[in-house]
Amino acid sequence: MKALIPAAGLGTRFLPATKAQPKEMLLVVDRPAIQYVVEEGLASAADEVVIINSRDKKSIEEHFSPAPELVALLRERGKDAYADAVEAVGNYNVSYVYQDEALGLGHAVRCAAEKTAGEPFYVLLGDVLVPDNAMLPAMQAVSDAHNGASVIAVMPVPEEKVSRFGVIAGAEVEPGVWKVDSLVEKPPAEEAPSNLAVFGRYLLSPRVMELLADVAPGVGGEIQLTDALDAVLQEEEMYALVVDPADGFDTGTVESWLATNQELFRRKNEGQ
Ligand code: G1P
Repeated sequence: MKALIPAAGLGTRFLPATKAQPKEMLLVVDRPAIQYVVEEGLASAADEVVIINSRDKKSIEEHFSPAPELVALLRERGKDAYADAVEAVGNYNVSYVYQDEALGLGHAVRCAAEKTAGEPFYVLLGDVLVPDNAMLPAMQAVSDAHNGASVIAVMPVPEEKVSRFGVIAGAEVEPGVWKVDSLVEKPPAEEAPSNLAVFGRYLLSPRVMELLADVAPGVGGEIQLTDALDAVLQEEEMYALVVDPADGFDTGTVESWLATNQELFRRKNEGQ
């Protein structure tokens, strides 16, 4: 089973910081943001993380490549803790596929079709950090309890923010678990079916990957993953796990990236 991390975006909201450096490589406390996401993927049931990259973001691939000379130099200088950290990150089981055109999140995920090989797969959006790595196992447990159904993480958001997200309609079937009836990408606030926003963690059935091949461009002219999820509901069940805002951190804007750094730095210092 694979965990897919789409990372081919332009990082527009962080320009000019992201002119020569990918957004995914921006520092969060002590490591690039994408390292948290890769570590979360590898801590789950996935055996490999597949980064859907653009060909010019070489620094992401360099970050996850072995650096034996640097490791040796650090050891020579007695800096073993740093050597261990550098060595570990160079040995993570990460591979790459490429998205050559920015046609949307659904298109990015579809670029990894061959990698998923007809199995269920996770999608982890890099804007969202889950430092305790507990969300994917919780989603997997919901899927296991419902015959392997797809499961998405959702978070309640204030009404004025729903138009920035995918939003679900459905019914709560047990505390914190909803059976999804439909999904809509970035609805106007007055048309949103709920305040439960898709939160950037997905456990998806292989049928979603197949349907993505035929999804037409939707909101913003982009091929939306949300539209494939809505389509699969004609054929399969899907559940949504309501996650606690204290467990997931948005880094998608300068403001939320700063706030996430501050909160994770505080937790690190307090040994949480
Ligand atoms: C994407 C998804 C959206 C989801 C959001 C979570 O939107 O399309 O459904 O709610 O991520 O961060 P984006 O933020 O790429 O516009």
